[in-house]
Amino acid sequence: MARRIPEPFRIKMVEPIKQTTPEYRREALQAAGWNPFLLRGEDVYIDLLTDSGTGAMSDRQWAGLMMGDEAYAGSRNFYHLADTVQALFGYRHTIPTHQGRGAEQILFPELVKRCRGDKPLFLSNYHFDTTKAHVEIAGARAVNVLTPKALDTETAYDWKGDFDLEALEAAIGREGAHNVAGLIVTVTCNSAGGQPVSMPNIRAASRIARENGIPVIIDAARFAENAWFIRERDPDYAGSSIAEIVMEIFSYGDMLTMSAKKDGLVNIGGLCCFREDEDLFRAVQVRCVPMEGFVTYGGLAGRDMEALAIGLKEGLDASYLSYRIGQVAYLGERLREGGVPIQTPTGGHAVFVDAKRLLPHIPAEQFPAHALACELYLEGGIRGVEIGSLLLGRNPQTGEQEPSPLELLRLTIPRRVYTNDHMDYIADCLIDVKRRAGEIKGLTFDYEPPILRHFTARLRPVA
Ligand code: F0G
Repeated sequence: MARRIPEPFRIKMVEPIKQTTPEYRREALQAAGWNPFLLRGEDVYIDLLTDSGTGAMSDRQWAGLMMGDEAYAGSRNFYHLADTVQALFGYRHTIPTHQGRGAEQILFPELVKRCRGDKPLFLSNYHFDTTKAHVEIAGARAVNVLTPKALDTETAYDWKGDFDLEALEAAIGREGAHNVAGLIVTVTCNSAGGQPVSMPNIRAASRIARENGIPVIIDAARFAENAWFIRERDPDYAGSSIAEIVMEIFSYGDMLTMSAKKDGLVNIGGLCCFREDEDLFRAVQVRCVPMEGFVTYGGLAGRDMEALAIGLKEGLDASYLSYRIGQVAYLGERLREGGVPIQTPTGGHAVFVDAKRLLPHIPAEQFPAHALACELYLEGGIRGVEIGSLLLGRNPQTGEQEPSPLELLRLTIPRRVYTNDHMDYIADCLIDVKRRAGEIKGLTFDYEPPILRHFTARLRPVA
């Protein structure tokens, strides 16, 4: 086995975290209605709810905060950020936003307005939840055309984030190119398990879109992790730098939306950028002002933009990325050795545990992955998140709970925050949960909110 890359940093500052007893956790979970979203953060020992805005900034980023120029308009931090975007992605026009969904809410209505057809839709390898929500708020439909290989968690495949190119062409044929408001390329593909999209696949999907006059949007939250996978797995790129790979990925897009809270290595921030379409840029700027803020800050303080400009560059460092993705792979490896079924290979930002295989006795309508999330909290104070039938919700037409194709527990690893001792502890706890898997019960609702129910639902174990 290749030697694991240790942390390429020293720890300069620490935040104590609370260790609790099983009795304490049972009470806390009970009070939270068996929904880890409703726990207080301080009652969580290791928080794997998300990798979004939960990372640690570097000393340089903290120093950058002191360089914040809080001019309402045209701060020097904005220009540093826009120059960085131009240098890394080759995009001329930058609009900062408060986070990724801020970019979605100002961009999508404009794309729908420009769509030539009257039945607008977006096509994507997979729309992230808020992306889908903003597509729908803008009056369009969100259609996913992901490779079916992603659904088979047991079989390893290097590019489980890929588009199914035949399905993409078929969808354009069926819906009519004039109705397709945009093609969204999500790198890495979060919902498939943080899985990368290959360069040939990005190139081909973009070519198909361009031949059909469809704009290409890159949902860039985990762009650096995707570039790292391309360098590791595609021999054509073994000799390329991460920066070169990033530049090529973005050459296949016309614009990007970015949640900078992931690979941008900041706790808050987003971007909406355009290669050259000046008209569209101006129109989106107009939407930015009432929604996000003036066009050179978009909901961010000058210091936030400074930290982001620095973070975007740091995020491309190959030794950082090797450590980062190596840590996630290490957790995956420990779980696999312990017989815990996971999405294979492990992704960039998270290990996805296959709860359908671990808890086959719990039916979809009793939310096996959510039950597993609760047990992991009880076992070790670790908070993961369900990506399965609870998240999916009911069929809006029939009101029925349909089973999600995958019942996953996402263990999302914040960047530069936990050590591999924490990874060992997580693996040990989950392996102990697996030993008593047969005794774990499903859950039923005490309170089911009508929409986005997973955030605030209250549940209890079935009798
Ligand atoms: N696109 C992708 C692929 C994402 O993963 C996210 C957020 C967004 C867009 C929205 O960005 O949160 O900054 O507004 N993902 C987080 C997660 C929340 O936990 O996976 P945002």
